[in-house]
Amino acid sequence: MNNSKILMEVRGLKKHFPITAGLFSRQVGLVKAVDDVSFSIHAGETFALVGESGSGKTTVGRTVIRILPPTAGDIIFEGTNIAPLSEETLKPWRRQMQMVFQDPAAALNPRRRVVDSIAAPLEIHNVGTTRERLQRVRELLDLVEIPTQYMYRYPHALSGGQKQRVCIARALALSPKLVVQDEPTSALDVSVQAKILTLLIELQNRLGLTYLLISHDLSVVKAVANRVAVMYLGKIVEMAPTDQLFARTLHPYTRALLSAVPVIIPEEQAMIPEEIILEGEIPSPSRVPPGCVFQTRCYVKVARCAQEEPPLREVSPGDWVRCFLV
Ligand SMILES: Nc1ncnc2c1ncn2[C@@H]1O[C@H](COP(=O)(O)OP(=O)(O)OP(=O)(O)O)[C@@H](O)[C@H]1O
Ligand SMILES: [Mg+2]
Repeated sequence: MNNSKILMEVRGLKKHFPITAGLFSRQVGLVKAVDDVSFSIHAGETFALVGESGSGKTTVGRTVIRILPPTAGDIIFEGTNIAPLSEETLKPWRRQMQMVFQDPAAALNPRRRVVDSIAAPLEIHNVGTTRERLQRVRELLDLVEIPTQYMYRYPHALSGGQKQRVCIARALALSPKLVVQDEPTSALDVSVQAKILTLLIELQNRLGLTYLLISHDLSVVKAVANRVAVMYLGKIVEMAPTDQLFARTLHPYTRALLSAVPVIIPEEQAMIPEEIILEGEIPSPSRVPPGCVFQTRCYVKVARCAQEEPPLREVSPGDWVRCFLV
C-alpha cells in the first residue's frame, strides 16, 4: 500500500464549532471537534478512523469531503487543495467524494421512493436523461443486490439492511472515487452486519473504490481496514497499518480500547493486553485538558504530560504515536 498513489492528503485539519448563548448569539465557548489532524489516504485502500463517541470521527469525514467548511488546514484531493474552494467551484469535486451517513433510517427521506432517493444525486448534477437515470438506478440496485422491483417502494417497507443498501447505492450513483462510510453497520442487526461488510468489500474491489471508514467497532476495522487512525478528543493519538496496530499497540489509549475487544480466536488472546479499565469520562471537546489530550485518564502518565503536548511522531515506518513515553 505504501507505494500506491495518494488520493487524499489531509494536513493540519481543524474544525471548531462556536458555542453561542443569549439573544445576540454571543460566543461563549468553542468546541474543538477536530484539532490538527493529518493523514493520507492511498487510492484503493480502506483507511479507518476509530475512537469513542464524540472523538470527532464524523466531523473529520464531513469536513474532508467538504460537507462542512474546515476552520483550518489543507485537504489535497488528487493534487488540488479543496479546503479553500467556494461552493460553486466545489461542484466537480463533490461528484468524486460521497458519504454513507451514520444512521440509514434517518438518511432516507420517508416520503421518497427508493428510485427517487438513488436518482437524486444524478438530478442534482444534471447527469443523463430521465430514462438514462432510471437505467442507472437499476444498475445500482443490482450492484447492491436489491431486486429492481423494490425501486417503487418507500423506506418504511424496507429492512434495516435494505435501507443501508439503498444508501450505498445512492452514494455510488455518481461513480465517486472516495466514499466515507460512517458506521456502516452499527445500526444493523448482528446477522446483517457481516453481509453489509462483505458487500462493501466486493464493491470496493469491483469499482476500485477508496474508503474512509468510520467506526467505533474494532472488529469491523480489523476485518476491512488497511490502516487505522485512533482518535481521542479531536486528535489522532496513534496511526498504523491495521496488522501492526493490533499486534503491537503503542499508545496507552489504544491499548485500553483493544483490551475491551472480546476475543473470538483463542490464539489471539496472547496479542491482546489484559483488560484496562479507564477511569473517568472522556472530557468535553469544549474543555480540552492542557498538555496531552489523554492525560486526565492515562494510567502511565508522568508530570510532563500535563504541561506539554506530545507531537505525533513516526516511531517506526508507517507507525505514528502521540505519546512521550513510547
Ligand atoms: N454542528 C455542530 N455544532 C456543534 N458541535 C458539534 C457539531 N457537530 C459535532 N459537534 C461536536 O463535536 C464533537 C465531535 O462530534 P462527532 O460527531 O464528530 O464525533 P464522533 O466521533 O463521530 O462520535 P459518534 O461516535 O458518537 O458518532 C462532539 O462533541 C459533538 O458534540
Ligand atoms: Mg459519528
